[in-house]
Amino acid sequence: MFNKRVKIKELLTWEPKDQQVTVMGWVRTFRNNQFIALNDGSTNNNLQVVVELGKFDDELLKRITTSASLKVSGHVIPSLGKGQKLEVRGETIEILGDSDAEKYPLQPKKHSLEFLREIAHLRFRTNTFGSVFRIRHSLAFAIHKFYNEKGFVYMHTPIVTASDAEGAGEMFRVTTLPLDNPPRNEDGSVNFKEDFFGRSSNLTVSGQLEGELGATAFGEIYTFGPTFRAENSNTARHLAEFWMIEPEMAFCDLEDNMNLAEEFIKYIIKYAMEHNREDLEFLAQRLADEEKQLPQDKRSEMGLIEKLEFVVNNSFERITYTEAIDILLQSPAYKKKKFQYDVKWGIDMQSEHERYLVEKHFKKPVIVTNYPKDIKAFYMRQNDDGKTVAAMDILAPGIGEIVGGSQREERLDKLEQRMAEMHIPAEELWWYLDTRRFGTVPHAGFGLGFERIVQFVTGMGNIRDVIAFPRTPKNCEF
Ligand code: 4AD
Ligand code: MG
Repeated sequence: MFNKRVKIKELLTWEPKDQQVTVMGWVRTFRNNQFIALNDGSTNNNLQVVVELGKFDDELLKRITTSASLKVSGHVIPSLGKGQKLEVRGETIEILGDSDAEKYPLQPKKHSLEFLREIAHLRFRTNTFGSVFRIRHSLAFAIHKFYNEKGFVYMHTPIVTASDAEGAGEMFRVTTLPLDNPPRNEDGSVNFKEDFFGRSSNLTVSGQLEGELGATAFGEIYTFGPTFRAENSNTARHLAEFWMIEPEMAFCDLEDNMNLAEEFIKYIIKYAMEHNREDLEFLAQRLADEEKQLPQDKRSEMGLIEKLEFVVNNSFERITYTEAIDILLQSPAYKKKKFQYDVKWGIDMQSEHERYLVEKHFKKPVIVTNYPKDIKAFYMRQNDDGKTVAAMDILAPGIGEIVGGSQREERLDKLEQRMAEMHIPAEELWWYLDTRRFGTVPHAGFGLGFERIVQFVTGMGNIRDVIAFPRTPKNCEF
């Protein structure tokens, strides 16, 4: 068998007692023709492999270059050097793959995140991205664990769909029609009847509508999958392809919905804190070093781990949209005209407003409820005031909106009336409306942007650095 290896993360926890082991990994550095720092991706900590002097010929030693892959066998011994308690005496060394150190783009020095984005195929081999993606994995695992423990059914909603769940028209079309000469109707418009699905179709912006179908049968479901938005937002918080978790619960109102969202977010953060301590400490240090470059008033009040502990141990603030607007109107920032965008009841709050609320005013995550109906989607439950809907957004320090959700309009007549007002084609959503025709129930749900919570937990400033291969306007490399 080729692969009978010990992972470095595990090996580093052993007591060195001359155990015979085989390890495999990539060379990070090779010092003095004697000390190899070997990394296998299981941890940022490298294993020191000591090459016995005189045992290997120069030809082999020359091939131990940064990023070459090795299979090393030898004994685990206490380390004489500082910084590690054990090392492996390299008794046999096999080069699995050479690497031309001159051409290898990742040099053993600090590279900028922007540069690393251009070599995203290799950036996993850095400590920063090693930590980020191990944490991303843990969060994904914790999400399934959380809902599984609660008895939710994991539902795979379609990626290709004919509907626009958010009604915002930010869809990527899916078609097999020839772009240069598509079949046309008499009026000149493209004839989608000739298209693959016999109608116009697109990549999903949200699995919610199909999720509601599941919830009104299973009671509680969640989705966790990729979603796509053709919004031309070139920010540190937007991706054209991102992952979203969307739980949907029957027999559930806005308050139940908020409670679940808060419990959920705390649970997955706690899971990462318990299972990814080393990686979080590494990222916390990285962030602290980065912030040293900033002027005092731009630095965070809390370190990364402190911030996460704070979020897990304190309840989220809950306010209505109307209260949020009042706070903004009373704020020194507003009075000193520090906001770029205007504040008045009815606005779709801009990121500067959301950040003021969470970072300056409350200094903790905030759940904002009961937004004006005109800035929210057609499916949200209408409140008795005739002006607002039972919506809730969760805003997080440093990120802004991480969750968007609502209680759903379960009353058929109200839903149909709202759809008509908003020009949502009811005939195309006949299946959605059927849930309101046959045993409708109060129900609610929300969507958590996966990359945004990964950003929050890892402290990474740009969303492009928490997804393996980011898709953003004018960028689809790898
Ligand atoms: O607020 P949104 O648009 O809500 C929905 O899609 C609902 N159908 C969810 C539901 O109720 N089931 O998106 C939900 C979350 C946002 O709060 C944000 O965290 C994330 O998805 N999100 C994005 N993340 C990265 N890039 C983008 N372009 C995003 N757009 C939304
Ligand atoms: Mg939203």
